[in-house]
Amino acid sequence: MKKVLVARAVFPEVIERLGVVFEVTHNQDDAVWTQAQLIDKLQGREGVFVTGTEAIDAKLLDACPQLRAVCSMAVGYNNIDLAACTARRVLVSNAPDVLTETTADFGFALMMAAARRIAESEHFLRAGQWTRWGHDLFAGADVHGTTLGILGMGRIGQAIARRGAHGFGMAVVYHNRSRLDADTEAGLGARYVSKEQLLRDADHLILVLPYGPASHHAIGAAELALMKPTATLTNIARGGIVDDAALAEALHERRLAAAGLDVFEGEPALLPALLTLPNVVLTPHIASASLPTRRAMAELAADNLIAALGEGERAGAPPTALNPQVLRAG
Ligand code: GLV
Repeated sequence: MKKVLVARAVFPEVIERLGVVFEVTHNQDDAVWTQAQLIDKLQGREGVFVTGTEAIDAKLLDACPQLRAVCSMAVGYNNIDLAACTARRVLVSNAPDVLTETTADFGFALMMAAARRIAESEHFLRAGQWTRWGHDLFAGADVHGTTLGILGMGRIGQAIARRGAHGFGMAVVYHNRSRLDADTEAGLGARYVSKEQLLRDADHLILVLPYGPASHHAIGAAELALMKPTATLTNIARGGIVDDAALAEALHERRLAAAGLDVFEGEPALLPALLTLPNVVLTPHIASASLPTRRAMAELAADNLIAALGEGERAGAPPTALNPQVLRAG
């Protein structure tokens, strides 16, 4: 039997399913491993099941030459050096599609919580500060009928656009590396604009772009300065896309009304200033975390691992491989 490692705790049924096909080493205690420990655990193993948090880079690959497949239950794969894997003919898969609608729901929830000051008012209530109704008590911004801006228009961006345009009567503007075709834009009810126009026009801006060198600090002080002081900013993409220090300053000075953040630079550590600001809603990287969706993500990673490394009838094309060419090459 081939040997695989499941690097983080995962649903027990997924471990059981993998156990039918492979000799599985797991981490159901969810111990925090250094990269050196991960390399050590990977010795002699051909496959690894990861999440969005384990760094799979050239150093690790060189130290684990027997590794043939890296299957992640996350859709974002900025933690995996895809080029280095491909160069060493290591298959990589991620988990797209299964989390699209759930993540879009959460983006909307976070944006609405920021706009309507839900977390801030709940803290006030729990602190026993609510003594009477007030005409402007936690009066925030409207969501319906306003302009929704989306930076990054992949599957999740499009699911958010549909919610905004069709559910909330919003004017939807977006910016993306590549423009969608006219029919898709019409179906979504979304209009392509420059990044600068997007920042200027959005009443509520949601970030849903992948993280990499090109998107590092895509939203920094200069970009925040273009936004309306009444606007909200929601980041459900990756930490590092927003310059968190610049954002904290803008929120503190009320140059931006509010923010909803599910991801942070250097998470799980947070910029301390964010914790003291009333006008930001903070969640611990849970945008895809509905139970059915997290199960589906884990099952999809297992499907990929089994297809990539399983033998006989189980072997096949991994359903969501990022570099399927490594299986075809010689
Ligand atoms: C979560 O952030 C993911 O990329 O799946």
